[in-house]
Amino acid sequence: MRDLDEMQTLLLEWYDRHARPMPWRTGPDARKAGQTPDPYAVWMSEIMLQQTTVVTVKDYFNRFIARWPTVRDLAAADDADVMAEWAGLGYYARARNLLKCARTVVAEHDGLFPADHTALLKLPGIGPYTAAAVSSIAFDLPHAVLDGNVERVMARVYDIHTPLPTAKPELMEKARALTPNARPGDYAQAVMDLGATICTPKSPACGICPWRTPCAARAAGTMAELPRKIPKKAKPVRHGTVYLGRRTDGAWLLETRPEKGLLGGMLGWPGSDWVDTSLPHPESAPPATGDWEEIEGEVRHTFTHFHLILRVMTADLPDPTAAHRGAFRRQSDFKPTDLPTVMRKAFNLVR
Ligand code: ADE
Repeated sequence: MRDLDEMQTLLLEWYDRHARPMPWRTGPDARKAGQTPDPYAVWMSEIMLQQTTVVTVKDYFNRFIARWPTVRDLAAADDADVMAEWAGLGYYARARNLLKCARTVVAEHDGLFPADHTALLKLPGIGPYTAAAVSSIAFDLPHAVLDGNVERVMARVYDIHTPLPTAKPELMEKARALTPNARPGDYAQAVMDLGATICTPKSPACGICPWRTPCAARAAGTMAELPRKIPKKAKPVRHGTVYLGRRTDGAWLLETRPEKGLLGGMLGWPGSDWVDTSLPHPESAPPATGDWEEIEGEVRHTFTHFHLILRVMTADLPDPTAAHRGAFRRQSDFKPTDLPTVMRKAFNLVR
C-alpha cells in the first residue's frame, strides 16, 4: 500500500478541484482564505444527512436556517413548529433531539457548540459519527468520519471482504489511520464526496478516481462486490386504520402523536394500533361519532423495520362535533406539508 501521506495528498488535491458546493459547506478555497464554517450549520446538516440524501436535505436545511438562523433561535422555537418543518424528512427522533440539543447548547455551553469530540458526544442526538463530523468539519480537528460512503471506500481501498456490520471496527481503524492532521475538515468531506460521486455502490468510476492506483479492490477486480453485507431480514408487514374526519367548516380532526414511539411528536390522523398482518385487522373506535366510510385504495408506506398498509376511513362531520380523540384544526391552521409522509399519503387519498 502507498504511503498514507501520498493518499491524503491525492484525495485533498482532488477535493480542491471537485468539492461539491453545498449550502452548509465552507469549500476548500474559502477555508484557505481563512473562512471558518458555522458549527451550528455543520451540526444541522449532519443531523439531516443521516439516512437522507444531499438533494433532499438542501431544501430542508435552507428553510431551517432561514427560519432559525442561530442555535439560540432554534432553542427558543416551539416544538410543534420544528416538528412541522421537519415533516417529510423521516426519522423524527432526529427532530426531537435537534431541539433538545439546541436547548442544551444554549443552557450549558452559552450557545456555542463545543469543539471537543467527547463534549459533543454528551449532547442529545450526537453519536460517534456526528461528533466526528462536527469536530472535524466545523473545528478542523482530526477525527475520522465513518458513514456508509466511507465504509464502502475503505472496504474497497483495502479490499476488505469481512461483511458489514462485522467489518465496522476494521474499517474504522483504516479510516482513522488515513485521517490527516493537516486539513482534517476538508479531508473528512473529501472522503465522503468520493464515496458519493466516484466510489459509488454500482459501477464506480475507477478510471477518474484519485485513489485508482493505491486501491486494492481495483487491483483485485473485486470493487463491485464490496462492501459485503450480512443479508438483512425481510421486513414484516403491519396493518391498521386511520380516520380522516372533516367538519363542515373545513376543519380536520388531527392529533399530536405521543412523544415516545414512532412518529413521536408529529401531527397525524387518529387511528388504530398497527399490528402484524398475521393478526386480524385491529379494532378501533372512530375518534368522533359520524358516518364513517372506507375509502377505496389503501396507504402503503415503509418504515425502517416494517411495511405498513393502512385502511383509510373518512366522514363529513357536523359543526359542532365532540371529538373523543384529537382536536379540530381550522384550514388556516393546517398545512398538509406539516404531516409526516405516511399521514400525507392518507390525506392525498381522501383529497
Ligand atoms: N454526507 C454526510 N455529511 C457529508 C458532508 N459533510 N459532505 C459530504 N457528504 C456528506
